[in-house]
Amino acid sequence: MAQKADRHELYQESVQDSEFELDFVQDTYKDIRGKKPVTLREDFAGTSRTACVWTKRNKANQSYAVDFDQEVLDWGHEHNYKKLKPAQRERVEMIKADVLTVKTPPVDVCLAFNFSYWIFQERKELKRYFRAVHRALKDDGILFLDGYGGSEAHQTSVEKHKLEGFTYLWDQNKFNPLTQEMRCYIHFRFPDKSRLDKAFSYHWRLWGGHEIEDLLREAGFSNVRFYVQKFDEETDEALDEFEETRDVEDHECWIAYIAAEK
Ligand SMILES: C[S@@+](CC[C@H](N)C(=O)[O-])C[C@H]1O[C@@H](n2cnc3c(N)ncnc32)[C@H](O)[C@@H]1O
Repeated sequence: MAQKADRHELYQESVQDSEFELDFVQDTYKDIRGKKPVTLREDFAGTSRTACVWTKRNKANQSYAVDFDQEVLDWGHEHNYKKLKPAQRERVEMIKADVLTVKTPPVDVCLAFNFSYWIFQERKELKRYFRAVHRALKDDGILFLDGYGGSEAHQTSVEKHKLEGFTYLWDQNKFNPLTQEMRCYIHFRFPDKSRLDKAFSYHWRLWGGHEIEDLLREAGFSNVRFYVQKFDEETDEALDEFEETRDVEDHECWIAYIAAEK
């Protein structure tokens, strides 16, 4: 089963919920700016799924997907882009480039999700990225990021999720408490006991909310908002709801969206 599996397909099924992300982006932009966003750039786009879904949501919607890995862009072209209708395809552009240097027309929203920007481990590198996005946004544009934290984020651990036909494992394999550097893997396991180990690997720095906000402001963003995942008050289970707050309880693991206004 592992030999027949497609790691990008499994990734999309287990890690990414483009519809949920886009609902959040659209609603939050509208709350802040009083209108709907139309142009979107997906940074670290991988299979470019979110950029493709964006063009399906509205005839006016336009998107750019940026990734520097030709292999993943090719996969996205075959499996996401080609499935769009011709008129939708005209409104999405897949670009092979580094997010630090790519040039795109000004956009309403830029998305860097699934913690991809944590690849930048030096302060000056992350600030350079935020500056580049600041320049790429329209005057009332907003950058959307996500982040996670909590005591569990500061240790090695393996999180398992049983999904239809396979199990997804998030393996926080190494964590350096001094530098906050971490090495993470995604593995997949199948019912016939076959495995796809290290299907994806990441070398990240665990950035804190305060550090991210400082750098966003230094890069020129005028306001930074945090939307933190809510927990059920009785069961303490994480809910699919996010509320704007800075007053976060010390749950073992929490995730948040960050909206940075130009
Ligand atoms: C974790 S995946 C993100 C996939 C998808 N956007 C998501 O939200 O699940 C990270 C992607 O970032 C790309 N990437 C990493 N550094 C990059 C850079 N400097 N410029 C462009 N793409 C980059 C990698 O090639 C990889 O496809």
